Amino acid sequence: MSTGLLRASVCLLLLLFLHQKLAACADGADSFTYSGFRGANLTLDGVAAISSGGLLVVTDNTVQSKGHAFYRTPLRFKESPNGTVFSFSTTFVFAFISEPADLNGDGMAFLVSPTKDFSRALGNQYLGLFNLSSVGNSTNHVLAIELDTTRNPEFQDIDNNHVGIDINNLKSDESHTAGYYLNDTGSFQNLSLRSGQTMQVWVDYDSHEMILNVTLAPIAMAKPRRRLLSAVVNLSSVLLETMYVGFSASNGPFLTSHYVLGWSFKMNGVAQALDSSLLPSVPRAKSNHKLKVLRIGLPLASSTLVLIIVGTVVFILRRRGRYSELLEDWELEYGPHRFSYKDLFRAAKGFRDTELLGMGAFGRVYKGVLPSSGSEVAIKRVSHGSRQGMREFIAEIVSLGRLRHRNLVQLLGYCRRQGELLLVYDYMPNGSLEKFLHDQAKPALDWATRFRIIKGVASGLLYLHEDWEQVVVHRDIKASNVLLDNELNGRLGDFGLARLYDHGTDPQTTHVVGTMGYLAPELARTGKATTITDVFAFGAFLLEVACGRRPVDPTAHEEQLVLQDWVVEKWRKGSILETRDPTLGEEYAVEEVELVLKLGLLCSHPLPTKRPSMRQVVRYLEGHAPLPELSPANLSFSLLALLRKEGFDDQIMSCPSSSVATASVLSGGR
Ligand SMILES: *[C@@H]1O[C@H](CO)[C@@H](O)[C@H](O)[C@H]1NC(C)=O
Ligand SMILES: *[C@@H]1O[C@H](CO)[C@@H](O)[C@H](O)[C@H]1NC(C)=O
Ligand SMILES: *[C@@H]1O[C@H](CO)[C@@H](O)[C@H](O)[C@H]1NC(C)=O
Ligand SMILES: *[C@@H]1O[C@H](CO)[C@@H](O)[C@H](O)[C@H]1NC(C)=O
Ligand SMILES: *[C@@H]1O[C@H](CO)[C@@H](O)[C@H](O)[C@H]1NC(C)=O
Ligand SMILES: *[C@@H]1O[C@H](CO)[C@@H](O)[C@H](O)[C@H]1NC(C)=O
Ligand SMILES: *[C@@H]1O[C@H](CO)[C@@H](O)[C@H](O)[C@H]1NC(C)=O
Ligand SMILES: *[C@@H]1O[C@H](CO)[C@@H](O)[C@H](O)[C@H]1NC(C)=O
Repeated sequence: MSTGLLRASVCLLLLLFLHQKLAACADGADSFTYSGFRGANLTLDGVAAISSGGLLVVTDNTVQSKGHAFYRTPLRFKESPNGTVFSFSTTFVFAFISEPADLNGDGMAFLVSPTKDFSRALGNQYLGLFNLSSVGNSTNHVLAIELDTTRNPEFQDIDNNHVGIDINNLKSDESHTAGYYLNDTGSFQNLSLRSGQTMQVWVDYDSHEMILNVTLAPIAMAKPRRRLLSAVVNLSSVLLETMYVGFSASNGPFLTSHYVLGWSFKMNGVAQALDSSLLPSVPRAKSNHKLKVLRIGLPLASSTLVLIIVGTVVFILRRRGRYSELLEDWELEYGPHRFSYKDLFRAAKGFRDTELLGMGAFGRVYKGVLPSSGSEVAIKRVSHGSRQGMREFIAEIVSLGRLRHRNLVQLLGYCRRQGELLLVYDYMPNGSLEKFLHDQAKPALDWATRFRIIKGVASGLLYLHEDWEQVVVHRDIKASNVLLDNELNGRLGDFGLARLYDHGTDPQTTHVVGTMGYLAPELARTGKATTITDVFAFGAFLLEVACGRRPVDPTAHEEQLVLQDWVVEKWRKGSILETRDPTLGEEYAVEEVELVLKLGLLCSHPLPTKRPSMRQVVRYLEGHAPLPELSPANLSFSLLALLRKEGFDDQIMSCPSSSVATASVLSGGR
């Protein structure tokens, strides 16, 4: 044998050997080890993929995405359907890379589940595991170890960087800030899940003791002696006889690539340790992607390349007028939330009238389908005269994009052009509540649906006021800003948008932005929107939903001109229920309708100090606290007289009754 041939065969053997080590070493059905996933036969869905380098990419850099990866075959977790669960152990190495680094997607979870089909689960804060109706239901039979990088008060998350043990729910049974305990001193060391650092997780379940341990450490470190968290759980009723194991991850408007580098699992034993030298490497930030392409492309450069470049430049110059947008240096950090005008233009088919969803207070709203992901969005085109304050406003808009709540319409991003701002939101298939209340063409909503919408909007507003990291005043609560999703849940839209008209205006004059009938009387005097003025508007909204009438109806008789006044008057006469929407028919819960009407009056009390906070409102609506005693005499005021006194008179009389463009920009300064 010649030395050449010998060397070749040694190489071949070595390659075969390496290949075997890299690919799964499935020694039996109940254990496996992956050091890198090249050639691995996993079941993938959503945006999940295996990169050419062998990384398992559970989500990539796609807005509003989710992805799942499962070991293809189910594993036997019990001897018999009614038996006790086996002990098991698993370990995996992961890294989350976010762009930009400080804004991140929602997180990833290791999961054990009876099914691989998570097509009905939601992304965002639901981590691709559950949806609104399934979350918390014991029929899920899902065990998840979440690596959660956003704080959702909805699920009582402790912070935006924690590890949790979740059983059938996103409210963790146990959770702890990410980190580990040092062997020697026992002191706790923080780890940032979204730092881009490669880390390892160990999950160990002892079925005899019924203890589930979770441990975390940086990749370079051996498994710490002390676990990060543990729970005493009898998994026998949670896990079924055969279950799938895998990963799930999701992104909201912020982009994170959730990578798994290696994974091993063993039933009734200790999972094989992962050799970090065999794991694939994680890409650093992808921002110089374009440079790389150029570098590869240049050596091929020839006259054709030059021709192509010249052609492209001419093409771009010609296109430029059509797709031109404004992009300044300070916006670079918002990269992922910037949509290109071109994409939006295409998404909305050139903003043709056929795609027009409606004319909102701040501009036209179009339906679009994003070419990149195929997801449906609503694109709002807001015209904006001055550029002053734009930077501040964009910072605010981007930070509002981080708000997550099931009763808020998710803001996905923006694009800026000369004199115009485009905001991209989740698409709400059922349109606005206002249409259902006032448009004869729409079916009337029954009381149960209305009450659910009211409670939803109240909880969304409470989140804005008290449960998020900063207080957000909505400023324009009204039925047309409540959108209905496909299950007819109410979601508040347009939060914070009214501020656009605050920035960059002359501080000498106060501009009150809002809609007549929802504006608290003191706004005319102070011009300052607060959570309390939001409560006023919410009160008007409650009455609107219960009565099916607009808060101010210039076409009505004087006594019905202002809805609040009319309801008080009817109450005084002992017939408050007569104000209910006649289309409700006879199928309604009397106590609930009465509660909503009275609470509506309390919220829109002319004296700001008498109005309840949204937290109190939610407690009244949920029946956790009785509505305070009030009598119509306490409310004997005429809002109309008061509004007139405050100088709203002309606006009331000229307020258009049509549903569109109801936002009146009032000059309230006197
Ligand atoms: C993966 O596994 C499935 C089921 O065992 C099989 O049908 C399929 O051909 C495999 N795919 C590859 C690429 O090995
Ligand atoms: C398992 O439990 C169910 C109800 O708890 C019972 O109907 C069934 O007979 C049991 N099966 C076995 C094999 O014990
Ligand atoms: C929620 O998820 C469950 C379980 O996957 C599914 O059966 C149900 O249809 C889903 N509901 C919706 C509204 O998608
Ligand atoms: C849990 O899910 C099952 C089946 O999907 C359903 O019948 C049941 O009503 C749900 N329970 C709750 C509390 O939602
Ligand atoms: C660890 O994180 C917690 C919570 O985020 C923080 O309060 C604490 O200061 C951090 N400790 C260190 C040493 O960084
Ligand atoms: C869980 O952790 C405790 C304390 O560190 C340890 O005593 C126990 O053996 C661990 N159990 C498993 C299954 O790893
Ligand atoms: C910590 O203790 C564990 C178990 O006793 C051991 O395996 C590990 O190597 C130790 N880690 C370090 C950094 O010494
Ligand atoms: C755990 O749950 C199973 C099924 O619900 C039950 O049969 C078993 O007795 C429980 N184990 C303990 C120790 O409570």
